[in-house]
Amino acid sequence: MTSNEREYVLGTDDAELMRLGLQHRLWSAQAFTCWERAGVKPGATVLDVGAGPGFATLDLAQLVAPAGRVIAVDESERFLRYLTERARVLGIAHVETRAQDVQSLDVAAATVDVAYARWVLCFTPRPHEVIARVAAALKTGGVFAVQDYIDWAALSVSPRSDAFLRVMPEVGKSWRSHGGDPQVGLRLPAMMSEHGLRVESITPLQRVARSSDPLWQWPTTFFANFIPRLVEQGLVPESDWRAMERDWNEYSRDENAFFWTPPMVEIIARRV
Ligand SMILES: C[S@@+](CC[C@H](N)C(=O)[O-])C[C@H]1O[C@@H](n2cnc3c(N)ncnc32)[C@H](O)[C@@H]1O
Repeated sequence: MTSNEREYVLGTDDAELMRLGLQHRLWSAQAFTCWERAGVKPGATVLDVGAGPGFATLDLAQLVAPAGRVIAVDESERFLRYLTERARVLGIAHVETRAQDVQSLDVAAATVDVAYARWVLCFTPRPHEVIARVAAALKTGGVFAVQDYIDWAALSVSPRSDAFLRVMPEVGKSWRSHGGDPQVGLRLPAMMSEHGLRVESITPLQRVARSSDPLWQWPTTFFANFIPRLVEQGLVPESDWRAMERDWNEYSRDENAFFWTPPMVEIIARRV
């Protein structure tokens, strides 16, 4: 982390960067379906809102090549440096990065064909500001595609774990104390309408990961990166984290164990 780096609640260190890479891989099929639905195509100008280290950005850049471009906006300069370096190595020249708070997003009016925001609005204290600015950046007929949580805390694990049930509410509290909303998806369609976007579809994103599935790594890496931070901050007792970790390790060897992902939605809204 650089000295002037403003951290989002999950941090911007190497472990989070790697976790975001794995997360993108595990959810890339859903992302691709969303982009097709949103009309991402060669020649398009795409805005990746809260792009992070740009794992989605680089895929989008391939889809809009050769004449299109992708503008990646994130408040983390560290993440954007990583994206710039990867784009350079891959010889991708049509990605532009902007270090900016997406709540004060500043992209030329009516220049964007598709804007994409995945797991970003849930972290912003003022999602309506983001939506207003994205709406202004979209061309008439342009699309804002969002994938985000409708109820993060509704994730579940089987078998039931008491330690897990004690720790999860603390994750939600910490997230809210940083100004985020783990239920933001419930508010988005109304906010989008207020800002001149017509909501065309609201689609559930829900999966189950068994302990033998690659997707099992998603909660595993999230818990390993994030819960120790809560322990350090005195928000979760060390003994609860240890008990949860023991349960999780045991479930990881149990072929009947499964994880029910936090309910999410994909929303496609068009500027009218
Ligand atoms: C969970 S990551 C998702 C990254 C990317 N959208 C993806 O799906 O891989 C959340 C990202 O939102 C960024 N972020 C959070 N709040 C922000 C804000 N107010 N302005 C700009 N970026 C923000 C963080 O820096 C982080 O990169």
